[in-house]
Amino acid sequence: MESLVMVIWLTLTFTLFVIPLQSYKTPVNPHLYNKTTPEMAARDGYPMETHYVTTSDGYILGVFRIPYTNVSAPAPSTKPKPVVILHHGIAASSSIFLVNSPGKRLPYLLADAGYDVWLANGRGNMYSRNHTHLSPEEKPFWQFSCQEMALFDLPALTDYALDKTGQKKVSFIGQSMGTTIYFMLASINPSYNEKINVAIALAPIAFSAHMKSPPAALLSPLVVEPGPPTEAISDLFTHGTGEFFPSVIWEQKLMIVACAPYVFAYAFCSLPVFVTFGFDYSQLNASISNDIWGHYPQGSSVNVFVHFGQFVNSGRFCMYDHGIVKNRKIYNSDSPPDFPLENISAPLVIMAGPNDILATPKDLESLRSKLTGVDETFIYVDYPEFNHMDFLLGIDANKYVNYPIIKILNEHNEI
Ligand SMILES: *[C@@H]1O[C@H](CO)[C@@H](O)[C@H](O)[C@H]1NC(C)=O
Ligand SMILES: *[C@@H]1O[C@H](CO)[C@@H](O)[C@H](O)[C@H]1NC(C)=O
Ligand SMILES: *[C@@H]1O[C@H](CO)[C@@H](O)[C@H](O)[C@H]1NC(C)=O
Ligand SMILES: *[C@@H]1O[C@H](CO)[C@@H](O)[C@H](O)[C@H]1NC(C)=O
Ligand SMILES: *[C@@H]1O[C@H](CO)[C@@H](O)[C@H](O)[C@H]1NC(C)=O
Repeated sequence: MESLVMVIWLTLTFTLFVIPLQSYKTPVNPHLYNKTTPEMAARDGYPMETHYVTTSDGYILGVFRIPYTNVSAPAPSTKPKPVVILHHGIAASSSIFLVNSPGKRLPYLLADAGYDVWLANGRGNMYSRNHTHLSPEEKPFWQFSCQEMALFDLPALTDYALDKTGQKKVSFIGQSMGTTIYFMLASINPSYNEKINVAIALAPIAFSAHMKSPPAALLSPLVVEPGPPTEAISDLFTHGTGEFFPSVIWEQKLMIVACAPYVFAYAFCSLPVFVTFGFDYSQLNASISNDIWGHYPQGSSVNVFVHFGQFVNSGRFCMYDHGIVKNRKIYNSDSPPDFPLENISAPLVIMAGPNDILATPKDLESLRSKLTGVDETFIYVDYPEFNHMDFLLGIDANKYVNYPIIKILNEHNEI
């Protein structure tokens, strides 16, 4: 009931107030907020390399690397720096790690601490709309869920970074869907456990039956049955291609314009964050809300959302459900197989927020009960309202997330 009221309220505020605000004359320069990840690094005085990683199924991923900083620049003789890979959540991109206010941006803190930082971009976001022979203007390009990011993108990036740096192992940090991808890869392709010295899972998503987030809980039942009706709905929302939540300039402009006046920042621009991820007024800095919406969404495929909807509906952490006919062909069974989480063996640290309405206590319990093959450390952030996005955007992200992460990494790397 609460959820329903919230959704109606949101719809009303948006139609009545936000949309007419398009014509509101704002002193804010829109160009400030939609900078690319490398433009943000340049603004902040950090070196950033762009790499292109081609997966075994042909996707060309844009990857950004901060090899060192002015405080951690290597002396010519020193050994290579330990590698950390950061992976964003659903429909986000590498830039989401750089929108918190200055001094709280994890990639820079890691680079200053002596790490070689690699920022992933999952297939389909604005930096990874490229393929050896498919075009993002056409449907076949968008036939993927997060399963493909796990089976193709993350291993390709890991191997590429190891190859470039000559290191034997990497550390991995994922938030939300970034953790989902890691759990999928490390369970179904256990050889990757040998290449990870520690994985840190922020706000992890696997089992999802108890998600309380209204958009997830309300929308999941609508879209998950594979077949023509789902495809028709999907086509309607995705211009017939399957691309979903792309980075659209007019949408960003709208949010930026609407969020710029401080009085609106809380009412319109923070509210969607709270409704989706958990209410935590005290950790969200209203001054960054237009920056958030200038960097979200960044593009994904509708099937990624459908796969998460399947997690919610089935209560299982299983492979993509294509419907019985196709499942029989692909998986040799009517329903898709579970990911064998017991195969995960690389050291794992889970950090969860007590007020995260996407990663809820019951679902975390299901996840942890399946992680039988791993020495796992579980940390509940010691702040009762900490939500799903506070890991990246929280005012106290340094105290509760970033500094503890550096401490954990230092325990598993020679720095
Ligand atoms: C940022 O917005 C401007 C127009 O407001 C547009 O021309 C530019 O391409 C955008 N940049 C990105 C990276 O989206
Ligand atoms: C490193 O660069 C940052 C950002 O440009 C600057 O604020 C800082 O003073 C520099 N530190 C050193 C030691 O040069
Ligand atoms: C909020 O964000 C602004 C803009 O980045 C920053 O100047 C300010 O210090 C932040 N406030 C807090 C409490 O972190
Ligand atoms: C696509 O990949 C090619 C080859 O790696 C690269 O030169 C090009 O810049 C990429 N295009 C985009 C839009 O990322
Ligand atoms: C993964 O787990 C399954 C089920 O426990 C097991 O049968 C399989 O051999 C494991 N795979 C590998 C590569 O260890």
